[in-house]
Amino acid sequence: MITATETKLPKIKTALPGPRAKEVIAFDAKFMSPSLTRDYPLVAERASGAIVEDPDGNTFLDFAAGIAVCSTGHCHPKVVAAIQKQAADLIHIAGTDFYHRHMPEFAEKLVSTMPKSEKWKVFFGNSGTEVVEGAIKLARYHTKRDKLIAFYGCFHGRTLGSLSLTASKSTQRKNFGTLLGGVEHIPYPYAYRCALGHTKETCGGEIIEMLEQQVFKRLFAPEEIAAIIVEPVQGEGGFIPAPLFFLQELQRISNKHGIMLILDEVQAGMGRTGKWWAYDHAGITPDIVLTAKGIASGMPMAAFIAKESVMNWKTGSHGTTYGGNPVCLAAASATFDLIEGGLMANAEKVGNYIFSKISDWPNRFKIVGDVRGKGLMIGVEIVRDQRTKERAADLRDAVVDNAFHRGLLTLGSGENSIRISPPLIIDEEQADCAIRIMEESIREAEKKI
Ligand SMILES: Cc1ncc(COP(=O)(O)O)c(C=O)c1O
Repeated sequence: MITATETKLPKIKTALPGPRAKEVIAFDAKFMSPSLTRDYPLVAERASGAIVEDPDGNTFLDFAAGIAVCSTGHCHPKVVAAIQKQAADLIHIAGTDFYHRHMPEFAEKLVSTMPKSEKWKVFFGNSGTEVVEGAIKLARYHTKRDKLIAFYGCFHGRTLGSLSLTASKSTQRKNFGTLLGGVEHIPYPYAYRCALGHTKETCGGEIIEMLEQQVFKRLFAPEEIAAIIVEPVQGEGGFIPAPLFFLQELQRISNKHGIMLILDEVQAGMGRTGKWWAYDHAGITPDIVLTAKGIASGMPMAAFIAKESVMNWKTGSHGTTYGGNPVCLAAASATFDLIEGGLMANAEKVGNYIFSKISDWPNRFKIVGDVRGKGLMIGVEIVRDQRTKERAADLRDAVVDNAFHRGLLTLGSGENSIRISPPLIIDEEQADCAIRIMEESIREAEKKI
């Protein structure tokens, strides 16, 4: 058993993977679907705080947080206690068919994070993709329209409806046949690669113009469009924040035409960017907000929150067996209290600290093209040449692998970026350790060019 206080920093004792880890990997290869994408051979045995231990006793500093899920760190004692208590009282009853107080109690907490100008209602699900599906259905039901606008580079999930919106990597869509019709993808504002040379604050005006002047006039009339769905910070796409004006423009267009603006906060939400929701930085009021991942510290839990006037579907229109499971809600409620009680502020503070130490990496390392993000959602883009901005997926992979061998867990994002998305509990000592390891790992990868 490891405790967060005892072990705050990583320690590698064996060659990686170690002998016990190798056994698990071989066992896994026998039975598990080969579609899973393991970037490097980490085998997790137990975890606490920001530390993950493998079966050989190596400890790693986790700057991936189970893909931005373990917001309160691993096995936070308050989350564990809430799960244990609830598991002894009531594990399941099916909120679709019966009542239990945990659903409205947590829904009330979620609604407290939403703009006060509106009344809101909540639907609970189990995963990000499930709430994307639910939001597509709600937007279609409410507007009685069927067309959808999504963005290149965005990721919304892997079930057939959400996959129709996902435009992240073609492998995720290849060989799965026809997806939902009536979906149009438009570019996402990507300041580092902006063809017009705009900045992080101004990139994307031409995309708004394209939507209004091209898509609305040549493809779909706006009165046919049910929803625009957008990630306020692209997660899988490379940790790319949309400029605030861009989100404000999407709200203006949506309001003007009665289109539902759906903010997919599955990766960016729940305090990670220093505010409850990444869209809060833009001061907008979406119609539907999606959350999952960081909401319940690792328990399968998701929700969509919609304006009361929008969530007006009839009894039986939508349901779920497990959504709103009492044990998941207990974890979510404890997670919420911890985020509200200091972790959101910590995300902003330590995020700014990390940013202040690494924003000059493009000046210090020739393979770092860009450092961007908000709070503890920071992307580092790796290029072969800063002038041409040639994407260097191989060097990115090398940095991630080098970091793993030094005891730091990170994940790639997009074609050639690294995501820094630690648990929201990390302190400056852990941030310094991660920065030191990343710098060594980048330096080592640079030797390859
Ligand atoms: C923004 C976003 N939406 C939706 C999803 C899908 O979530 P899940 O994997 O829980 O289905 C993800 C997963 O990475 C995501 O990042």
